[in-house]
Amino acid sequence: MSADPLVAVESLRVTARRAGRTYPIVEDVSFQIEAGSLLALVGESGCGKSLTAAALLGLLPWGLAIASGRIRLEGQDVLALAPAQWRRLRGRQVGAVFQNPLAALNPSLPIWKQVVESAQLAFGLDRPAARHRALELLERVGVPDAAQRLDDYPHQFSGGMRQRVAIAVALACNPRVLVADEPTTALDLITQAEILGLLNRLRLEQGLAVLFITHDLSLVAEYADQVLVMYAGRVVEQAEARRFFAGPRHPYSRALLGAIPRLATPEVRLTDIEGLPPNPLDYPSGCRFAPRCPRVIDRCRSEDPPPVGDERQRVFCQRPWAAEGI
Ligand SMILES: Nc1ncnc2c1ncn2[C@@H]1O[C@H](COP(=O)(O)OP(=O)(O)O)[C@@H](O)[C@H]1O
Ligand SMILES: [Mg+2]
Repeated sequence: MSADPLVAVESLRVTARRAGRTYPIVEDVSFQIEAGSLLALVGESGCGKSLTAAALLGLLPWGLAIASGRIRLEGQDVLALAPAQWRRLRGRQVGAVFQNPLAALNPSLPIWKQVVESAQLAFGLDRPAARHRALELLERVGVPDAAQRLDDYPHQFSGGMRQRVAIAVALACNPRVLVADEPTTALDLITQAEILGLLNRLRLEQGLAVLFITHDLSLVAEYADQVLVMYAGRVVEQAEARRFFAGPRHPYSRALLGAIPRLATPEVRLTDIEGLPPNPLDYPSGCRFAPRCPRVIDRCRSEDPPPVGDERQRVFCQRPWAAEGI
């Protein structure tokens, strides 16, 4: 095995241009994901999770660009590659699953064709081999009676089954990295748990490195190896999952966790983060969470929050909660 992590993102900065001005959307985000490991990227809507994923996937929308930073996949600096080379590499190495499986599926094609389309292109499979591969993938993601369902269309599947099909599409070329951006948000609670269980099984069985994006910390408490909490385009806390869940140190992380009744402490409830995250065009100076923070002091509003802790649990805050000492 190589010593390189499958995914290494270093000081990623994504900027947007609007009305002749360039402004940051994602700033100084760094993380690594090893084979078989799951990193949970968490934060409220609008904090830059999807655009971080889009940068990793080479799918930033028009008007946004990677201004600086490095992205390495299996040690290879992908930003140094020609666009066509990166596209080819990414097609094979990185699979992606999104919130709405219907957006990833073509309503007018039977599912077996969609599941193996990319693999056919990549590996030149003939029709029988392709059907066989589609069956194998659909069975792997737990579609019941898959052999009878190869010729069905997306509308004939439930939401949860469609998401399983979308995961099969993502796995078709045997990627080593899977980016899952809110893949369960549109589903009911039981189906959410099933899809999360499936992703967890796949990463263990296949050694996938998974970037799992969610606004719901409670969803990932059981499966995450690392947690990265973003607020307003910046990392506020980054930690080994067991340390994080034993005692998150950033007031924002605590407030997010307040959504989990078991872990909520009387002094920090979700009500402590009333209000909305700021607009990227209008970020406050100092700590961007300061206007909503229950522990705010004057300095928070004027100085950038300093890093506190080490790589096992790092927090960017003037007044973090004490470490739990595990
Ligand atoms: N195409 C775009 N152009 C300019 N700003 C955008 C674009 N897409 C998203 N944004 C802004 O970037 C910020 C982060 O968005 P996003 O990564 O989608 O957040 P999240 O996935 O955490 O909800 C938001 O404030 C959003 O309004
Ligand atoms: Mg998003």
